[in-house]
Amino acid sequence: MKVRTAVIPAAGLGTRFLPVTKSIPKEMLPIVDRPTVELNIEECVKAGIKRVVIVNGRNKPSIENHFDHNVELEAALTAKGKSEELEKLRWLTEDVEIVSVRQKRPLGLGHAVACAAPVAAGEPVAVLLGDDLVCSESPAIGDMMEHFETSGRGCIGVVRIDKKDSSKYGMVAPKELAPDGPWQVSSLVEKPAPQDAPSDLAIIGRYVLPAEIWPLLAELTPGVGGELQLTDALDVLARSRGLDAVEMVGERLDAGDVAGFILANVRYALLRPELKSRLVPALRKLIDG
Ligand code: UTP
Repeated sequence: MKVRTAVIPAAGLGTRFLPVTKSIPKEMLPIVDRPTVELNIEECVKAGIKRVVIVNGRNKPSIENHFDHNVELEAALTAKGKSEELEKLRWLTEDVEIVSVRQKRPLGLGHAVACAAPVAAGEPVAVLLGDDLVCSESPAIGDMMEHFETSGRGCIGVVRIDKKDSSKYGMVAPKELAPDGPWQVSSLVEKPAPQDAPSDLAIIGRYVLPAEIWPLLAELTPGVGGELQLTDALDVLARSRGLDAVEMVGERLDAGDVAGFILANVRYALLRPELKSRLVPALRKLIDG
């Protein structure tokens, strides 16, 4: 079955970025000159996704506005003949259908994805978390969609980490410790201590899930931290229908905390020759004092 819909949960409180997230959603913080959520949606569009469900919380109308026409701005750019700038805006409203749903209270990631059920239940779905950026030529979620569409098995994106960092991640216990993936998932462990980590495979924010995920999400009960955890639904899925872990190709950037976000900005800026030529000498000067 083809994956047509993606869900992007964007209703969290963004406490690690306070005070800016008091008034600006974390997903609208820019990576160079584009909101993080725009990079995720571009990844979806490149992978052939036709519809993105954004799970919004309170104070998040700016995300909806970003993917809607700004008639005055477009008229002004047209009048000034600024076609390059217009093209930067065009695809935001034309290449993908954006549907907004509301998570009334931030009860956890599993609950946030479940809020997309009125739009997407009954079909397989891709899920992308804005915190995780994957910088690669081909869209990371596209490789996972291909895996799902050829094998019929849901999959989660993983990267290899140093086990000493395992307590920051959901970790995969694979059925077999084969050197190369995809690996069949035996179970998932949320943020284990290094000595308890079942492998060096850490879950990142990319998932392609079969339609069977929807009833599992609806039945979630509070897990770690009292939240309705996506990992708990995935764990049930792994034990019932089966779930695979697919290693991400490309450079994964964790923009979920302030240092990672700044590094992601530097990384994306250095990909642009006009910025790189100015930034490299300036950064060297700053570092060398
Ligand atoms: P995070 O835990 O990284 O986001 O959730 P957060 O809670 O907003 O951030 P901090 O930890 O307080 O700084 C991963 C993604 O899931 C969404 C968030 O918006 C984020 O993109 N999320 C999380 C929801 O949509 N709803 C929730 O209840 C929880």
